Amino acid sequence: MDAQLLELLNAKIAGCTACRLHEGRTQTVPGNGDPNAELMFIGEAPGQNEDQQGLPFVGRAGQLLDELLGEIGFARSDVFVANVLKCRPPGNRDPQPDEIGCCEVYLREQIEGIRPKLIVLLGRFATQYFLPNAKMGEARGQPYQAGPWLILPVYHPAAALRNSNLMSTMREDFSIIPPLLARAERPEVSRPQIGHQHAHSDEDDDSQRSLL
Ligand code: URA
Repeated sequence: MDAQLLELLNAKIAGCTACRLHEGRTQTVPGNGDPNAELMFIGEAPGQNEDQQGLPFVGRAGQLLDELLGEIGFARSDVFVANVLKCRPPGNRDPQPDEIGCCEVYLREQIEGIRPKLIVLLGRFATQYFLPNAKMGEARGQPYQAGPWLILPVYHPAAALRNSNLMSTMREDFSIIPPLLARAERPEVSRPQIGHQHAHSDEDDDSQRSLL
C-alpha cells in the first residue's frame, strides 16, 4: 500500500466520530507496520496501553505476539498489525456489533490496500469478521480461503496469557505461518478508495466471506 495513502487513511481514522467510542479515546489506534507486508495480523481492539500510545499490541499481549513472531523468524516491522476496532472500548469490554459495523470500512481499506498473502486472525472478533459463526476452538489452526483472502484463525494472545494451557496450541498454530506464506500468492484486488463508504449488506458479506 502506498505510504501516503496509508497516512490519509490514518488521518481519516483519527478524525472519526462514527460511533460512541470516540468519546472515551485518548487517541485512535489505526494499526502499524510494513504497508506492503505479506503477513498481516488482526486483533480485537486497543487496550489501555494502545490507547495511550496510539500503537497496536504494545502491552503484555503485544509482548507475547512479538515473542511468537520471533520464534518463526519475523520482526514486528516485517508485518502489519491492526485491530477490528480502532478505538478502545471502555474498560476493555467486548466490541459491540454497531461499533464493528462503523469501523469495518477502515479495516477493509487496510486489507485491500496492503493485499497480504496471509491474514492471521487473533481471537474471536477478528475471526468472526471473516467467518461470522466460527467458534475459536474449532476454527483455530486451520487456513481458510475467504473470498480473495487466505486467513488463519488463532487464539488471541491475551487468551494464552490468561490460560497458559493454550500456549503450546498458539505455538503450534504460529508454526503453520511460514509454510503457508511460502506457497501463498498476493491476491489481486482493486485498489482502495479513500472516502469510499462500504455499504454493509448481507449479500455482500456472503460473497466476501464464504469459504471457498
Ligand atoms: N489486544 C488487541 O486485540 N489489540 C491490541 O492492540 C492490544 C491488545
